[in-house]
Amino acid sequence: MGAAGHYSAVASRLSPGGIAIGIDRDAEAVRRAMEKHKLGGLAPSDVKVELVQGTIGELERVVERLGLDEVDRVLMDLGLSSDQLDDPERGFSIQRSGPLDMRMDTTLELTAAEVVNHYSAAELSRVILEYGEERHYRRIVEAIVSARRRGPIRDTAELAEVIANAVPGGRGRIHPATRSFQAIRIEVNGEAEQVRGGVEQACRVLKTGGRLAVITFHGLEERWVKDGIKPYTRSAGHSEWFMRRIGDVVKPDAAEMRRNPRSRSAKLRVYEKQRPGAGERD
Ligand SMILES: C[S@@+](CC[C@H](N)C(=O)[O-])C[C@H]1O[C@@H](n2cnc3c(N)ncnc32)[C@H](O)[C@@H]1O
Repeated sequence: MGAAGHYSAVASRLSPGGIAIGIDRDAEAVRRAMEKHKLGGLAPSDVKVELVQGTIGELERVVERLGLDEVDRVLMDLGLSSDQLDDPERGFSIQRSGPLDMRMDTTLELTAAEVVNHYSAAELSRVILEYGEERHYRRIVEAIVSARRRGPIRDTAELAEVIANAVPGGRGRIHPATRSFQAIRIEVNGEAEQVRGGVEQACRVLKTGGRLAVITFHGLEERWVKDGIKPYTRSAGHSEWFMRRIGDVVKPDAAEMRRNPRSRSAKLRVYEKQRPGAGERD
């Protein structure tokens, strides 16, 4: 749901009596959407609004709890919202110092501080290599381990500095800690399992002819989405129904990127749930 931009756009296109379910694991996002709803700015009055604090990893349960068997469409806009990124207190920002938090759901136990200050060197290496695809991961882990011997790394500014000093080369347009921050955030929020599991559940909970649209922001997210779809493709032998990608990958045009630079790396893919023989198409 995030700042509910897509939510409102979708809700405004529903038929009267349609149900628009918004899910976010961040209580703050849900609270803001509820506020907007109270002020009448979220959805037309003839649409039923359901706003849920939960994860996409529990999508089926959310739908079931609302008394529904299936849904027509699912849209997943993955990653972080601008509200989260721009609030230094959430600890996602490299530019402005904040606590080592990075939890999308602030009731979760695992924080960035735990990963940075208490993970073993081997665990840190796994995280930064696997989720950051960072080729300098060895130097970075060595630097973190050596810095924390002098005392815990206290905030995002200190972490960014430790990492920047560990990697060779000057500071280009992208901060040298960007990949490591992404990696730690993915670990803290269990994003790999969330996306894979959420996509699998979306496939199951869609009605035949229903569509799943996913917006990804980096290659790892794309891989997890594909992993989630895979068991339900024809080539994997899923025959009662199967998922098929339709249309081209949609990317923002130059004007959108100028208006919203964070859309730069966004890619939208759409999958349709089809039955053999019944309206099969690309
Ligand atoms: C890119 S923003 C969505 C922006 C939104 N589409 C809009 O129009 O404003 C991503 C949102 O998804 C939420 N999120 C990320 N992973 C999630 C998950 N596994 N379960 C539920 N919400 C998640 C984040 O908390 C964040 O608010």
